[in-house]
Amino acid sequence: MYINFWIPMALASELEDTPIRVAALSQEFALFRNSEGKAFCLADVCVHRGSSLSAGKVKSDCLQCPYHGWEFDGEGNCTHIPTIASDAKIPGRARVDSYPVIERYGVVFAFLGDLPEEERPDLLEISEWDQEGWSTTHLVYPWQANLERVVENGLDATHTEFVHPSAGLQGSFDPEKLEDARLVEHPWGNEYLMSTPAVEISHGHYGANHQWTFLGFKMGDMTGHFRFYSFVRPVDENSVIRYIFHARNFQLGEKMDKEMLKTNLGFEAEDRPVIEAMRPLESPLGPGEELLLPEDEIMLAYRRSLKKWRDNGWHIDSEKLHDAGRRCTFTIPSPARRGSSAWIRNTVPMSAMGGD
Ligand code: FES
Ligand SMILES: [Fe+2]
Repeated sequence: MYINFWIPMALASELEDTPIRVAALSQEFALFRNSEGKAFCLADVCVHRGSSLSAGKVKSDCLQCPYHGWEFDGEGNCTHIPTIASDAKIPGRARVDSYPVIERYGVVFAFLGDLPEEERPDLLEISEWDQEGWSTTHLVYPWQANLERVVENGLDATHTEFVHPSAGLQGSFDPEKLEDARLVEHPWGNEYLMSTPAVEISHGHYGANHQWTFLGFKMGDMTGHFRFYSFVRPVDENSVIRYIFHARNFQLGEKMDKEMLKTNLGFEAEDRPVIEAMRPLESPLGPGEELLLPEDEIMLAYRRSLKKWRDNGWHIDSEKLHDAGRRCTFTIPSPARRGSSAWIRNTVPMSAMGGD
C-alpha cells in the first residue's frame, strides 16, 4: 500500500450531517462536513486518549470527540478542551492529522500523504462526465484482494476472452490480428495501446490506484466508445473497495444504463474469484516469480512505477506495522507534518528504499 495518492473514501451521498468512519491503508479516518457542506478528513484516533472521533458529533464546524469533548477543526487542530480554563493555552500537540479532500464525480477523495500541493498527482480525469452525448454509470464494491492485483487486472486485456466470454472478443488477441501494440509512458503512469479488428484498446494506470480501460468498438451495429475508470481504496493489504465508473457514447438512456450496470456487475462477478485467488497476494516486484510475455508489458511498467514510489519512501511496511502490536497506533503522515515535528503519534513505518 502506498501513501501520497488520492483515495476514494466514500460516495458524497454517504457523508451527510453525521461523521463517518472509513478504513484505508490499514488505518481509520473520520470524515465530516462543516455547516457549509465542505468535507474534511481527519485521522480517526483522538490524540487525548484514543477514542474514535468519527463516533463524535459536529459542533461549530468542528468534530467533537465523544469521550471528553475535545473539539478539532477541519485542519485537525484542537480548538477547545472542556477541562482547561478558557484563557489557558491549548497544547501545540493537541492535534490530529488532516488530509486534503476533493469531492468530484459524486465521490469524496482524500489525499492520504504528506506531499505539498504543488507536488501531488491529480485525480484521473473522467473527461466524459456530464458531457453531451455520453452516459455514465457507477458501481462500488469490495474485493478481498491486494490493490496491486486489482489494478493489474484492469491493465490485463488478454484475460477478457477467457474470463468474460460474453464480451465477444474470442480470438481478438491473436498476434496475427493485433496491430500497433505499444507502451506509452506518462508522468504519473503508463498506457498500453493496441488495436484488433474488433476493437481499439487503451488501458493504463494513473498513480498506484487509478486505472482506466478505453474500448473503441468497430463491430457493425456496435460502434462507439466504452470507457471504464477504476479508483481503488486499499482498506488493508488484502482488501479493497472499488469505485467504478463507466462512460459510453452509444446505446444511451436510462433503460440502457440499467442494462450496462447488469452487464458490468456480471463482469465483476467473473473477475473477482480469479483475482482473489491469485498468489502471491501482492504483485512480485522482481523478475522470476512470473513468466510474463510481451502483452504483459504494461504490468511491468506498473511495477516499475510502484518500485519508484517505493524508493520515494511511499510504501507502507505492512509487516512492521502489524508487528508493532496492540499498544501502538500509527497515522498516515499529513502535509502539516512537513512544517512541524510536534505530534503525538508516530507515522506508519515505510519500506526500506531500494529493496524488492
Ligand atoms: S479521548 Fe478524545 S477527548 Fe478524550
Ligand atoms: Fe475482467
